[in-house]
Formats: sequence, structure tokens, C-alpha cells
Amino acid sequence: MSMEQKAGTRLIVKDVSKTFYQKKIEPHHVVDKVSLEVKDNEFLVLLGPGHCGKTVLLNIVSGLMPPDEGSVYLDGEKITKPNPKIGMVFQKLGLMPWKTVIENVEIGPKLSGINVKTRRERAEYFIDLVGLKGFENSYPHQLSGGMKQRVGIARAYTNDPEILIMDEPFGQLDAQTRYNMQNEISRISEHEKRTIIFVTNNIEEALYLGDRIILFTECPARVKEIYDIDLKRPRDMIDPEFLRLRKMISNNTDLAL
Ligand SMILES: Nc1ncnc2c1ncn2[C@@H]1O[C@H](COP(=O)(O)OP(=O)(O)O)[C@@H](O)[C@H]1O
Ligand SMILES: [Mg+2]
Repeated sequence: MSMEQKAGTRLIVKDVSKTFYQKKIEPHHVVDKVSLEVKDNEFLVLLGPGHCGKTVLLNIVSGLMPPDEGSVYLDGEKITKPNPKIGMVFQKLGLMPWKTVIENVEIGPKLSGINVKTRRERAEYFIDLVGLKGFENSYPHQLSGGMKQRVGIARAYTNDPEILIMDEPFGQLDAQTRYNMQNEISRISEHEKRTIIFVTNNIEEALYLGDRIILFTECPARVKEIYDIDLKRPRDMIDPEFLRLRKMISNNTDLAL
């Protein structure tokens, strides 16, 4: 089945719901009739409190989990299984400890059978772009948390997905490293335009990065509000307009995000 869509729209989530049924406990309704659109080359942020159903929604969007109701369409085609056009960066990166940085980064194109010269060039380009030049032959245990996150980002871009999903990628980093990585992802995404869906529970992070922010309710996740963010880049977290938007979004959430 396919679906008509507006020009410039890549992905459509239409009335998606999900409930988990487990023995001896009440059904757990985690995603409630979520509809949203993702535009070509936009940096879309999904902002919502912890455990509200963000990751479940992403799993549905990326075809890893079927919705109970509703559908997801990529370029008009219904998603029913994982699609190589969609790439993921997780908080837990799953870097292979016995492989070097460059071997970890080139794993995707290697599995797709891309020749060593081409995939090395691509991997080196993104390793350089994320600021890890010189660390190509290091092993993950020799890197800091922020550097490992950079490896995960380089790996995701090297796979060359058309839509890049980042699920709270900086959630486990200390405050200073997180701030640096927000700067980095802002710079990288300006340089290498992709359609990005970035999930966070942090309002500043959302405002620092997003072209649009979709605010979700507590569990079950429902779309509460959609904000277009027109602030110029790079953004300034203490700019009065940034602070005004921060307060406006904060006032619209039930929780201290
Ligand atoms: N496979 C599953 N089976 C049962 N419950 C699940 C499953 N996956 C997630 N949940 C529950 O759904 C809720 C939302 O989870 P999640 O989407 O991971 O939240 P978050 O917004 O923090 O990413 C949580 O209460 C979680 O325990
Ligand atoms: Mg999550």
C-alpha cells in the first residue's frame, strides 16, 4: 500500500498506537495515535519525558516493531521491515571492542559488499568530520565516552542512510561532553545535510538542534505540540529568544524536563 504525500515530505507516521500485553499485569499503552511528518533534510527533534514511549515509537518508525494500529510510510511506501534507508545511532553504541575505530566505522559498507578502497575513503572522511583523525587505529577501550559517541556518529553517516535516527545519543555523557557533542552534531548536520530524527528528554538540547520540535506527553506518548524553531545557527543558549522558547516549552510540559 502506498500513500499520497506533500512534496518535501519523507516520512509519514499516521495514527500509530502500541500497547504491550504481559501476563499478570495490566495492558501497558505506550504510544497513542501518534501522527507526524518528517520533511526532507530537516532536523526534527522528538522531545518527551523518560519512559513516555519514544524508543517504542522509533522502533516502529524504523520497521523493527509492528504498530498495533496505524502505519508508517517512507517516500509513500508503507514500512513493514527494517529499511536500509533508515540508520540509527543509539545511546548504547555496540562498538565491537576487538575492532579498531575505522573497522567499526566501515562495518556497514563492508557488510553491503562495498570494496575496501571506497569504504575506507568514506570511513576516513567521516572520522575526520567527527574530529577523530589520528584515532583510526585505536580500539574503543582507548577512547573517552564522547569519542566513542563520535565513532557511533561516523559509523551511522558512513552507512549513508537517507534518514538518520538518533535515540538520546548523548544521554549518558557528562554535562560538558554533552555540550561539546551538541555543538558537534549541529556542525556536522549543517555540513552533511540529512533528514534527522533526534530524540531527547532535554529541552535545551532540543532547542539547540531542532528545525522543529515535536513535544510528547507522558506515557502513553501523544503529540502535545509542534514548534517551528527559526533561531539562526549556531544557536546561543543564553540568547533571550532561546530562553523565551525554553520557558514556553517548559510551561507546556507536565514534568520538569
Ligand atoms: N518490548 C516491550 N515490552 C513491554 N513493555 C515495553 C517494551 N518496550 C518498552 N516497554 C515499556 O514501554 C514504556 C515506554 O518505553 P520507551 O519507549 O523505552 O520509553 P522512552 O520514552 O524513555 O524511550 C516503558 O514503560 C517500557 O517499560
Ligand atoms: Mg528511550
